[in-house]
Amino acid sequence: MAKQPYYELKETLLKVENVSLELGGRQILRDVNVEIKNVVRPGLEQGQVVSFLGPSGMGKTRLFRIISGLDNPDSGTVLVGPNQVPVTKGSVGVVAQNYPLFEHRTVISNLVIAGRQSGLDGSAARDKADSFLKRFDLADQAGKYPAQLSGGQRQRVAIAQQFMCSEHFLLMDEPFSGLDVNQIRKVIDLIHEVSSHDEQLTIIIVTHDIESALEVADTIWVLGRERDSSGQPLPGANIVKTYDLISCGLAWREDVSQDPELIRLKQEIRELFPNL
Ligand SMILES: Nc1ncnc2c1ncn2[C@@H]1O[C@H](COP(=O)(O)OP(=O)(O)OP(=O)(O)O)[C@@H](O)[C@H]1O
Ligand SMILES: [Mg+2]
Repeated sequence: MAKQPYYELKETLLKVENVSLELGGRQILRDVNVEIKNVVRPGLEQGQVVSFLGPSGMGKTRLFRIISGLDNPDSGTVLVGPNQVPVTKGSVGVVAQNYPLFEHRTVISNLVIAGRQSGLDGSAARDKADSFLKRFDLADQAGKYPAQLSGGQRQRVAIAQQFMCSEHFLLMDEPFSGLDVNQIRKVIDLIHEVSSHDEQLTIIIVTHDIESALEVADTIWVLGRERDSSGQPLPGANIVKTYDLISCGLAWREDVSQDPELIRLKQEIRELFPNL
């Protein structure tokens, strides 16, 4: 096992409490409980990257929408920030699964608008947008409209747009789907880069991509259905397993993908998935 860096867990930044949801008479989420604490590494700025991982149809997007304040659960609450206030729509940055953009604005303008909305003046927003376009390999696309982009390009614009304006929380629904391996690498590197420069930033990634979740996150919550004593799945997903990758020595490392422990965990989760 790799040497574990020193860190402390401080105040709660986000709490999901007893969240349940039913849709069309079906239980989708059942009593989901999660707490994200501020991870502090003395002498470093270290944000938090956490992931909800689960098979397709398990309720990840529904949970994502509740944590974002876009939907209300049937019961339970989501509390955000150091004062633990109920989340409201717009209080956290969101990159949705279908990457909505302003269709009648160019790529650069989509980013600049987001920067202006977060309080930057025009030239600061433009500078920040230029730098994100470069980092996301989108400099050549700056003058295009969203309809002229490929799926992967569109996704990177949507992610960059949220980095322009999100303050402390950024939720991403399936940020790796539809990207090729190089693009996935870039998104993971960028998430690491951004989170290692901002103590307060919490990035929440919802995904069914086991490998990327293991490489990007410091904590993984696996969403699945618990079984009753006769082995029958209970209705509604909740957290069936938690992986603390910091204490395994797998967080905050660039070389992590080839670590034998990570490869072992990948296999373990792969075997878990069909039974969720
Ligand atoms: N409006 C709705 N009415 C009824 N059922 C719904 C509705 N929206 C989603 N569902 C059901 O809720 C379940 C969870 O959907 P959700 O979109 O959260 O899955 P997911 O885990 O995000 O899947 P994927 O990985 O494919 O994105 C699915 O079984 C889906 O059919
Ligand atoms: Mg989904």
